[in-house]
This record gives sequence, C-alpha cells and structure tokens, in this order.
Amino acid sequence: MSMRILLLGASGYVGGALWRSFSVRHHVVGTRGARDVEGLVHVDLTDARALSRLARHDFDLIVHTAGLVGLEEAEAHPERAWRLNVESVRILLEAVRDRPTRIVYLSSDNVFDGSQEAYVESDPTAPVNAYGRTKVAAERLLDGPHLVVRIPLVYGRSPVSDRFLARFRGARTPAQTDILCAPVYLPSVATAIEALWTESGVVHLGGPEVLTRFELMSRVRDALDLPTAVVPVRNADSSNPWLRPSRLVLRSTRHEPLGPDLPTALDHLRGHRGSSRQERPTFG
Ligand SMILES: NC(=O)c1ccc[n+]([C@@H]2O[C@H](COP(=O)([O-])OP(=O)(O)OC[C@H]3O[C@@H](n4cnc5c(N)ncnc54)[C@H](OP(=O)(O)O)[C@@H]3O)[C@@H](O)[C@H]2O)c1
Repeated sequence: MSMRILLLGASGYVGGALWRSFSVRHHVVGTRGARDVEGLVHVDLTDARALSRLARHDFDLIVHTAGLVGLEEAEAHPERAWRLNVESVRILLEAVRDRPTRIVYLSSDNVFDGSQEAYVESDPTAPVNAYGRTKVAAERLLDGPHLVVRIPLVYGRSPVSDRFLARFRGARTPAQTDILCAPVYLPSVATAIEALWTESGVVHLGGPEVLTRFELMSRVRDALDLPTAVVPVRNADSSNPWLRPSRLVLRSTRHEPLGPDLPTALDHLRGHRGSSRQERPTFG
C-alpha cells in the first residue's frame, strides 16, 4: 500500500537514503534544514508553528530523522540538542493528536552506557552523554501507536549528505581501535524501517558483525580500493574518552536480523561505486 509520508531530515545522511528509497513506492514530502536541496521543503525544527502546520497535513506517517546528531556538538550545546531532538517530538505529538498519523522516530544506541555485551529493546537505558539523554527523553514521549527505531553506527553511500564516504576524501582518516559496534548498512535501513513501520514501541536494528571502527573503516577502504590510510587511534587517548561507550551492540527480540552481512554489503557498495543513482537494495 502506498503511504503518504512526511520525512523530516531528508537532506541528512540517513534521511537522504530513506528519501530515495521510500519515494519509489510512496508519496514522500521530504524536509531540509540549512542545506539547499532541490525537491525538499524547508522547515526549521525550532519553528514550532511551521513544523506543526506541516505535520497537520494528511500524512499516514511522519518519519523523524532530523536533529542534532554530533556527540561533541550536543555536549557543547545541550539546550539546542534538546530543542531539536526532544521539543520537535513534543510539537509533532501535539500536531497529530486526534489524528491517525503515526510517528517513526530514529533513535540511537547511545541511549545505553555500553556496560553490557549487547542490548535488546527491553534493557533499561543509561545514557552517558547529552546526545543520548535527548534520545531517551524523546523516546519517553513516544508511547501509544508510535515507533522508535534505535540504530547503531551506519555505513554506506548516501545521496545528499555522503558523510560516511566523505571520511575517505583525505590522505588519512583516523578510526578507533577500542570502540566496538555492530554497524548497519545504510541502504538496508530503509528496507528494515518499511518492514517494521506498522509496529509500535521500540525496535532495534543491528548489523550481524561486531567489530571495531578501525576494522570497519579498513574493510570499506579495501573493498573500494581507496588510497586513504586508515589510521588506528584509541578513544581512550582522546580528550573526552567518557563521551563514547566502548561497546554498543544492538540486538532485537522483536524481529529476525534485517540487512546484509558485511561482505554482502561491501559487494553492494562496490557495485555502486561513484553512483548517485536511485537504488533499492534486494536484501531485506
Ligand atoms: N548516522 C548514524 O550513524 C546514526 C547512528 C545512530 C542514530 N542516528 C540517528 O539517525 C537520525 C539521522 O542521523 P544522520 O546521521 O542522518 O544525521 P545528519 O546527517 O546530521 O542529518 C540531520 C538532518 O537534520 C536536519 N536538521 C538539523 N537541524 C535542523 C533544524 N534546525 N531544522 C530542520 N532540520 C534540521 C538536517 O538538515 P540540513 O542538513 O539541511 O541542515 C539533516 O537533514 C538521527 O536521529 C540520529 O540520531 C544516526
């Protein structure tokens, strides 16, 4: 069934990929913030009236991927992070009250402190940074029919803001050897969200492999035969080692694993080298 979707943050790294993928079968209104992108509607998340007016249109779903995402930036500007990541949700909930529109909110593995081997949906949250605290606060507002999708580190190509691949633009890129994650391949996030968006509550997406950021970056560099040197660094040696939990692994008790393993994802990435074409992955 074709859905009417408001996609907040379609100019972002994750949102751009969702915009491309959802637009194949659904009617999507995508939004942007400061970035000028053709085909997207500008709305400032801090403009409550504008956001509310837009959300009151006849949408089946509001997929909310917009906000402040950088850990350091959220730490430096916690009030701004709160306005973008939490207050925007409050505005949306008010706008869709008494309407059938459901909200799908993208959250993060940073709602956890990393002290467990892995986390499932029912595990208690314990954020260690300002960004994670905004995500927990937003999640708590979203009860009822709405859905929270927690995602870990995402890798892959994105059509508008190609942030992950941009790390390979220079001669060297640092990557931590002491941060473990179970990253998900970006094109599979859209497929997974589409498979889960009739659910409510909290769902986790997690990639099958647990590996360090250094291993991930090295594997991507090798797969794409890039000249960039991936430089091993230690989070423990950074000026703020407490900011990043050293192991964040999301697992789900609500669905079978979704998305490809790393070799399959790297094959797919290699096949789309330099391509900005619309792509709809076949793995689910
Ligand atoms: N990337 C990851 O690895 C990852 C991991 C875990 C969770 N997540 C979650 O996934 C979601 C998307 O993350 P992302 O990496 O795609 O972030 P991103 O690339 O930084 O995109 C953020 C989006 O928010 C928009 N935005 C920022 N400030 C705005 C404002 N004041 N008004 C309106 N729009 C505004 C940006 O628009 P402009 O660019 O046009 O300004 C952009 O479209 C977030 O909820 C994040 O917490 C991401």
